[in-house]
Amino acid sequence: MRRLLPEPTELDDDALAEAYRVPAGRFARVNFVASLDGAVTVDGRSAGLGSPGDRRVFRLLRALADVVLVGHGTAAGEGYRPVTADSPVGRLRGALGRTPVMPVAVVSRRASLDPRSDLVTRATARTILVTCAAADADRRAALAAAGAEVLVCGDDDVDLPAALHALADRGLEQVVCEGGPQLLHGALTAGVVDELDLSVSPALVGGQARLLGGALPGPARLALHQVLEEDGMLFTRYTVGDATLR
Ligand SMILES: NC(=O)c1ccc[n+]([C@@H]2O[C@H](COP(=O)([O-])OP(=O)(O)OC[C@H]3O[C@@H](n4cnc5c(N)ncnc54)[C@H](OP(=O)(O)O)[C@@H]3O)[C@@H](O)[C@H]2O)c1
Repeated sequence: MRRLLPEPTELDDDALAEAYRVPAGRFARVNFVASLDGAVTVDGRSAGLGSPGDRRVFRLLRALADVVLVGHGTAAGEGYRPVTADSPVGRLRGALGRTPVMPVAVVSRRASLDPRSDLVTRATARTILVTCAAADADRRAALAAAGAEVLVCGDDDVDLPAALHALADRGLEQVVCEGGPQLLHGALTAGVVDELDLSVSPALVGGQARLLGGALPGPARLALHQVLEEDGMLFTRYTVGDATLR
């Protein structure tokens, strides 16, 4: 992995971890991989766009965060599982001096998370359902009974700023949001995104699955802070709005 911006240099594992560190305190970064034309899936999954370097950055961003935030569409479609101590992320967290396990928080207005899924039943750090009061009460109760922590944030829809407050109150201040496009749209609209970490795959894909699930009320302006490269894949780091980096 080499850095192209700011100063060009080769990056070893330690330097890569430094390159992705964020300031202490509350911070929400979004991690995506997209093709040059903005497609986020090949045959319905993101894996077709990935590379060894992308998987390395994906694991590192998890390792540096307190919690994974993900929309239910992505958690279900990509087969999300809990982060365990003996997983690559768990081991990397240990090497970075962090607790090996971390929770996954699934955003779902309808509380669609399956109470029998591994994500709920096999998690060492309890999986969190982020939902709203309009979600079916029986579904919420079933998820709580199965072991999930249910956060009700908002009445008719999920109030994302309130959800991030609730996570921070539990010590989960540093969030890596892994999408998908609907959740990114909601998070940008709610003004809760500090950073976009976008891996740009050297591919043209076409199709309907784009980075953003719908038009924003107005363009979000981002500032480019870092570009890394490996095997033709660009790893960009943009701040959103007023966020500042060390
Ligand atoms: N290339 C990449 O890096 C990448 C990253 C992530 C996902 N993806 C791809 O994107 C596709 C999934 O797209 P998607 O837009 O459906 O994903 P998504 O945002 O993960 O899931 C949408 C669902 O999540 C819940 N949700 C999302 N935002 C919400 C909000 N603000 N408030 C309340 N609930 C919210 C809703 O669940 P309920 O319907 O249960 O209420 C909604 O139906 C998959 O094919 C996945 O592979 C690609």
